Amino acid sequence: MNTPDTGDNEGGPVKRRPKIVVLTGAGMSAPSGLSTFRDSNGLWHQHRIEDVATPEAWLRHPDVVLEFYNQRRTQACAAQPNAGHCAIAELERGYDVVVITQNVDDLHERGGSRHVLHLHGELTKARSTCDSSLLYEIGSASIRIGDRCAKGSQLRPHIVWFGEEVPKMEEAIHCMEDAAKVLVVGTSLSVYPAAGLVEHAPRAAEKVLVDLHADRTPPGFRVLKGSADKLLPGLVQEWLAQV
Ligand code: APR
Repeated sequence: MNTPDTGDNEGGPVKRRPKIVVLTGAGMSAPSGLSTFRDSNGLWHQHRIEDVATPEAWLRHPDVVLEFYNQRRTQACAAQPNAGHCAIAELERGYDVVVITQNVDDLHERGGSRHVLHLHGELTKARSTCDSSLLYEIGSASIRIGDRCAKGSQLRPHIVWFGEEVPKMEEAIHCMEDAAKVLVVGTSLSVYPAAGLVEHAPRAAEKVLVDLHADRTPPGFRVLKGSADKLLPGLVQEWLAQV
């Protein structure tokens, strides 16, 4: 395997490293002990979406919404990246890797990935309710009624709720459009616009989907059925051997 291109090539053309886009969902973090949403014991079997993950729920009972995310934040911060997260980070040794995740935990970052785009927000951040550009890094801390931003408004979880815009979608589509390889891991591909990202994968790109059940597989994808932490290390070694 050639050494990663560092750009110091005595004036010759800089060889761009091939780009890999990885789209992940809750199944990526399941081996780390975090619940998915739609599996048998998933979060949407324990809670109603309209009670905890919509702007209307926030207006009706903000305390219930805050408690739902405070519990998920505590669990996510106590979890550890699994071998799948670490394998995806390892890809950066030979490729230009962008992780586009639907997950709101920070396990990709803690697993070593350096370019992570969160489509549905981040549990470790709180956001002003009067100025969405006002974000606060809170780590594992809870958000309570009465916690206010610098402009005096109540803080909310920095999460994209159902019915809200997905601000990073444009950037995600742009990333996908020049991928040499597309890897989809641990998502039911049931929530749009995120699920629609696979339609922007270049026709010529190598496409692989890793999923425990692989119930829904987009056309053109090679399917590896099994757990992300078990299957990703082998796939990553196969791809690193190509560069
Ligand atoms: N390894 C790989 N895949 C797994 C594993 C595992 N260990 N465990 C579960 N899966 C797969 C399931 O087979 C399923 O396809 O992960 C997927 C989980 O699907 P969902 O629970 O629907 O989660 P996700 O696709 O991330 O949901 C998308 O919906 O509710 C919203 O905002 C929420 O981001 C979330 C979005």
